[in-house]
Amino acid sequence: MKIAFVGKGGSGKTTLSALFVRHLAARGVPVIAVDADINQHLGPALGLSDEEAAGVPALGDRLPELKDHLRGDNPRIPSAAAMIKTTPPGSGSRLLRHDDLGPVLDSCTRVIEAESGSIRFLATGAFTDEDLGVACYHSKTGAVELMLNHLVDGRDEYVVVDMTAGSDSFASGMFTRFDLTFLVSEPTRRGVSVHRQYRDYARDFDVELRVVGNKVRDPEDLAWLREEIGEDLLTALGHSDWVRALERGRPRPFRVLGEDERAVLRTLHAAADASWERRDPVRWTRQMIHFHLRNAESWGNERTGTDLAAQVDPDFVPGATDTRAVPQPA
Ligand SMILES: Nc1ncnc2c1ncn2[C@@H]1O[C@H](COP(=O)(O)OP(=O)(O)OP(=O)(O)O)[C@@H](O)[C@H]1O
Ligand SMILES: [Mg+2]
Repeated sequence: MKIAFVGKGGSGKTTLSALFVRHLAARGVPVIAVDADINQHLGPALGLSDEEAAGVPALGDRLPELKDHLRGDNPRIPSAAAMIKTTPPGSGSRLLRHDDLGPVLDSCTRVIEAESGSIRFLATGAFTDEDLGVACYHSKTGAVELMLNHLVDGRDEYVVVDMTAGSDSFASGMFTRFDLTFLVSEPTRRGVSVHRQYRDYARDFDVELRVVGNKVRDPEDLAWLREEIGEDLLTALGHSDWVRALERGRPRPFRVLGEDERAVLRTLHAAADASWERRDPVRWTRQMIHFHLRNAESWGNERTGTDLAAQVDPDFVPGATDTRAVPQPA
């Protein structure tokens, strides 16, 4: 299951991603947490010290090695330099398994033995202004997009990505890579305006989007959110003393998390689980190719000096059946 948390800056993406990741880990569900947000705060929210978080190798710095690994023996991709963030896997590509991410991603993974359970943590590394452009060759989130596109995962194998709701993810197609996207929104006009923008992109691509209200103070806040957001509103969280204690540097054990937070997390988990039934590998692959061709035309062909459309393997649907997905190049 591939799950994204998006929303306006400061809405609570990192807070809710981290709570959800801990919730899964506490239930023994294998979970990979990925920090792909502009502000890299997921590590500390999962219990790493600032020094420990800063010491996690940045995925964005390993992009050439990752490309080289993923292309494997795929004859359509002659070199890592000819691979862009949207290059789809094809025959000969190396696919990833939740429990086998390959040497490059493994080298960037930090295992967090949280009191709630074991979590595998990856981080893109801090963003610069350059990373936020549409035509970004060295995009930080490119590594995450490639990982998601090459990952063949099962129902109880979670990848949770804390990311921005920015134009970068719309341009590349990253926002279509998830089984379910949780958009975190405070009960503010700016919060819900991010939802409107996201909803419009999402609708065009059958992206499943549910809104999680956050910092909702009273019934009036909740009623307003309901009115503005409508049926996309899944659940809402108020002020969390547990979260505030963590922010103060006095973390409390996960087992004493409040009942309100727990109820929200159970709702998120149930919604994520339910989205599995609607997974459609063919549509997912079609979208991957759509965005690849779009990126190829708008900047990729020129940048790499090749016709990137030739990278598309027309019969290849990763994860469509086990026999297609499992073989790896020797
Ligand atoms: N339900 C809550 N109760 C108490 N504090 C909260 C709650 N949700 C978020 N916060 C606090 O609000 C601040 C912003 O939250 P968070 O960092 O999760 O947002 P974000 O969307 O990830 O922000 P950014 O865009 O900076 O990455 C943090 O200090 C966090 O502790
Ligand atoms: Mg954040």
